Amino acid sequence: MSSMATVLSCARVSLIPLLVSLTINSLIIVCAGNLYQDFDITWGDGRAKILNNGQLLTLSLDKASGSGFQSKNEYLFGKIDMQLKLVPGNSAGTVTAYYLSSKGSTWDEIDYEFLGNLSGDPYILHTNVFSQGKGNREQQFYLWFDPTADFHTYSILWNPKRIIFSVDGTPIREFKNLESAGVPFPKNQPMRIYSSLWNADDWATRGGLIKTDWTQAPFTASYRNFKADACVWSNGKSSCNSQNSSPNPSTNAWFSQELDSTGQDRLRWVQKNYMIYNYCTDTKRFPQGLPTECKMS
Ligand SMILES: *[C@@H]1O[C@H](CO)[C@@H](O)[C@H](O)[C@H]1NC(C)=O
Repeated sequence: MSSMATVLSCARVSLIPLLVSLTINSLIIVCAGNLYQDFDITWGDGRAKILNNGQLLTLSLDKASGSGFQSKNEYLFGKIDMQLKLVPGNSAGTVTAYYLSSKGSTWDEIDYEFLGNLSGDPYILHTNVFSQGKGNREQQFYLWFDPTADFHTYSILWNPKRIIFSVDGTPIREFKNLESAGVPFPKNQPMRIYSSLWNADDWATRGGLIKTDWTQAPFTASYRNFKADACVWSNGKSSCNSQNSSPNPSTNAWFSQELDSTGQDRLRWVQKNYMIYNYCTDTKRFPQGLPTECKMS
C-alpha cells in the first residue's frame, strides 16, 4: 500500500465524486467493520445508535424501553467476533443478550447473555445452545476481567462439527456435533445475529432479589469491531460452495477448526476456575438422567 493511499470507510463512499483528483491507485475503500453495513436497529425508538461513521453501536435502556439490533445477513456457519463493553456501574437487573438464532418453532440458537450486577459485584456470562427448539443447556461463568472497563471480544465459532464460545480468544465452552449419538446439532437452519439490552430484574441478578435502580438510567452497552468469516445465506443458497464443504480452505480454516491442545488446556482452566453453573452436572434437574451430550465429554 502506498503511503499516499487514502482510506475511506463505506459511510464515506458517497464522497468519491469529490475526490476525482485522487488516482484510483491511491483510493482504498475499507468496508470491513462498518456497522451500518452489517446491522439494522430493530427496536427501542432511538435508544439504539450507530455512531462514528459506523465504527460504534450503542444500545440503551431506561424505564420506558430497552433497545436492540439484528444483522442484515443470515449465516449458515461462521466465525463471528464482536467486541462488547457492558453496562458499567450499578447494572443490576439489566441483561445484554448477544446471540445467533434461526426462526420457527424448531429453531436453533447460540446464546451469550450478560447479567448485570451491583457496582463491584461480578457479571454472570450465561450461555446456551438450542437445537431444533430445545435448549436447557445452560452454562454460566464469571469473567477473569471487568467486562465494563473495556471492550472484549466475544466469539462464536460455528462449523459442521462443533460450536465454540471464546472470550478474547480463550475458549470457554464447546458443543460438539453428536448427531451420531442422537443429539440434534444446528446445521440446516441459517441464523441471524441479534442483540438487545433489556430489564430482567424479575430474575437476572441474584435470581431477581436485586432490582434495577432506575436513578442510574439510561444504561448503555457498546459494540465495535464486528467481524464475520462466515457463509452468508441468501435466496436459499449459501455463499460457500455447498453446505458441507469448506468455502475456501486456504482462507477459511474456521470451517474445520477444532481446539488444539492449548485451546483444550485453556478451556479446562476456564471451566475449573470460572464456571459457576453447568447443566451437565445438575443431576437434580435431570432425574431421568443427564442429557446424552453430558455423558460423552
Ligand atoms: C452478583 O453478585 C453476587 C455477589 O457476589 C453473586 O452471587 C452473583 O452471582 C452476581 N451476579 C449476578 C448476575 O447475580
